[in-house]
Amino acid sequence: MSASPTVLIMAAGHGTRMRSATAKVLHPVCGRPMVHWVIEAARRAGAGRVVCVTRPGEGVAGELPSGVDIAEQQTGEGTGSAVLAARGQIEPGSTVVVLSGDHPLIAAATIEALLAAHAQAAAAATLLTTDRIDPAGYGRIVRSEGGLVERIVETKSTEGVPASELAIREVNIGAYAFAADELLPALDAVGEVGGERYLTEVLPVMRGRGKPIAAHVTEDVASAIGVNTRAGLMEVERLAQRSLLEQHALAGVSFTAPDTVRVEVGVEIGEDSTIGPGVTLQGATRVGRACAVGPSSTLIDAWLGDGVSVVHSYLAGCEIAANASVGPFAYLRPGAIVGERAKVGTFVEVKGSTIGAGAKVPHLSYIGDAEIGEDANIAAGNITANYDGRAKHRTVIGARARTGVNSSFVAPVSVGEGAYTGAGSVITGDVPDGALGISRPEQRNVEGYADRVDRKSRA
Ligand code: UD1
Ligand code: MG
Repeated sequence: MSASPTVLIMAAGHGTRMRSATAKVLHPVCGRPMVHWVIEAARRAGAGRVVCVTRPGEGVAGELPSGVDIAEQQTGEGTGSAVLAARGQIEPGSTVVVLSGDHPLIAAATIEALLAAHAQAAAAATLLTTDRIDPAGYGRIVRSEGGLVERIVETKSTEGVPASELAIREVNIGAYAFAADELLPALDAVGEVGGERYLTEVLPVMRGRGKPIAAHVTEDVASAIGVNTRAGLMEVERLAQRSLLEQHALAGVSFTAPDTVRVEVGVEIGEDSTIGPGVTLQGATRVGRACAVGPSSTLIDAWLGDGVSVVHSYLAGCEIAANASVGPFAYLRPGAIVGERAKVGTFVEVKGSTIGAGAKVPHLSYIGDAEIGEDANIAAGNITANYDGRAKHRTVIGARARTGVNSSFVAPVSVGEGAYTGAGSVITGDVPDGALGISRPEQRNVEGYADRVDRKSRA
């Protein structure tokens, strides 16, 4: 982009067709609000300044990334009113790019191509068009016999639109480059249709004033798709997801069932990792190299080192070091830190706890607010009783300790290094290093019991 133009993003529509309490442009695509995608594309295309037109009270202004200027559309309806709301932010003599906040997949390269076409044509307005998508609902481009753009016919409602115009395949993508000095006076001359002022109506005004209008026709389908309904949102999500997975695949990640996987934008996955069927990777999740994730696992803000395996598990806000294994059917909650080569196995829940390197918690346990030392072995069915009804307390289990099955640890409590606990013990006091902590009634055998019962039942 030559002179780093100002990019204006219209994001103040009511989005009625979404049927949502959330503003349309805040609906996420691959986990990121639609309008953020547009901002990102504008920045990558070299925008000097990004101005977002928002509506007071709709919650959009507060959700924008830093460095974006805001113009509030206090009055008026329609895309023309949106641009007029930013009048004060448009510098005389400049080129201004206007984008729609509901075209999340607009590509930086497409914006650049639009600008190049605009500069080359020395036009008052250059619009981006395509004939590669289903034109239903979009503004159709009416051209003169000589092929010049005359005007745009809106087809949101097809009532009264002649069949010849409905037959037009070329549509307006809602991305424009304007000479600022032509745009504002033309907009001032545009009247309202059904209470709305349409930005597209500047074209006939400019034409009437003998100003050149150009169109850049693109084949970039993703850029062309505007989201007006949740059905449109699904379409965009599908396209964005596919292209995101392709980027990861090209960077060395295998997806064994890509159509069943959901990866949010911003997630990192290292080379040679394999993502199986039914996996969701969300938020700030980072997967190391040569990991195997899946089938059926959800990772939210989870950090995985290299060579980690996760099977049928749910991980949120946790850290798993290299070569550790998780699952099947583990639940790792915020603050779970699993050391190298450690194992968190089947039906194990871990929260706010550190599992030392090489330690194992293989079966049916709850580890909350605990520290498990290196190479410790936690037997099946161990529970940290971390909550006394008022506060949480910590359990510390030393390195190389061996706990017995069904041990309960009533926190605060500690088990020393290399210590043991007896099966079925409720550990309420500290166990010294190398000791056995056992707390269960002695076993008593009742001799001849079976015969006695038999005799009784025959009597
Ligand atoms: C618009 C175009 C249509 C084009 C289509 C491409 C007009 C009149 N029509 O129709 O030619 O084919 O986009 O997707 O421009 N907005 C505001 N303030 C408002 C109204 C809208 O900021 O008062 C914003 C919306 O948030 C949205 C964008 O402008 O991001 C477009 O508005 P929308 O109502 O979706 O227009 P379309 O009917 O899709
Ligand atoms: Mg729209």
